[in-house]
Amino acid sequence: MRMSNRILLALAGCVLAANVHAAGNPANGAQLSQVCQACHGPDGNGVGDPQYPIIAGQYADYLVHSLKAYRSGERSNVIMQGFAQNLSDQDIADLSAYFASQKSRLEDLSKRR
Ligand code: HEC
Repeated sequence: MRMSNRILLALAGCVLAANVHAAGNPANGAQLSQVCQACHGPDGNGVGDPQYPIIAGQYADYLVHSLKAYRSGERSNVIMQGFAQNLSDQDIADLSAYFASQKSRLEDLSKRR
C-alpha cells in the first residue's frame, strides 16, 4: 500500500474513533430515560416481558448504533422509531452512556447452571 493511503486510513480511523466515543453524560441520560422505563425498566433490565430487550450493561457503541438506526429507519420497528425520532445525537450518547453503565441482569442469568 502506498504511504499516502496508509496515512489516509489512519486519519479515517481517528475520525471514526472520535465519532464512536462522542462523550455521553450518564446523569443526563438517566433523566432522559424516564420515557424508556415503561418498557426497558428503570435501569434497562426490562420489565419481565421478553418482547422488550434488556439494554442494561450493553456496550454504549452498540446502543448508539441501534438508536441511530431506528431514528433513520434503517432498523425498522414502529415503537422504537417513534421514540428515537426526536432524539438528538447528544441525547443518544447520553442515554447510551446511562444504560451501558447499568449492571445487566443477564450476567447473573448466565452464571445459573
Ligand atoms: C413502548 C415500549 C418501549 C419504549 C417506551 C422504549 N422502547 Fe426501546 N424497544 C422496545 C422494543 C419492543 C424493542 C425491540 C424492537 C426490535 O425488535 O427492533 C426495543 C429496542 C430497543 C433497543 C435495541 C436493543 C437491542 O438489543 O438491539 C434500544 C437500544 C432501545 N430500545 C432503547 C430505548 C430507549 C433509549 C428508549 C427511550 C428513549 C426506549 N427504547 C423506549 C420498546 C420500547
